[in-house]
Amino acid sequence: MSEAVCTQKAPYVVEAEEGKTYYYCTCGLSEKQPFCDGKHKGSGFSPIAHTAEKAGNIYFCGCRASKKGALCDGAHKTI
Ligand code: FES
Repeated sequence: MSEAVCTQKAPYVVEAEEGKTYYYCTCGLSEKQPFCDGKHKGSGFSPIAHTAEKAGNIYFCGCRASKKGALCDGAHKTI
């Protein structure tokens, strides 16, 4: 598997808890989007750990084209 799967052309909005670490799925195969469920095994992909600095919404990338890693940078508007 060489390319990550786009699971939606919009960010996943997650209400985060301050200090909590979230494991973002980079492969797109997880059934618990946008979080890793271990399905990346053997794909060459691995999750990104993202710790919330404060409580509030986090916009995780759904298209897997973001240049900001786990976070949406608006790239879904260009694909
Ligand atoms: S299931 Fe996609 S990175 Fe783990």
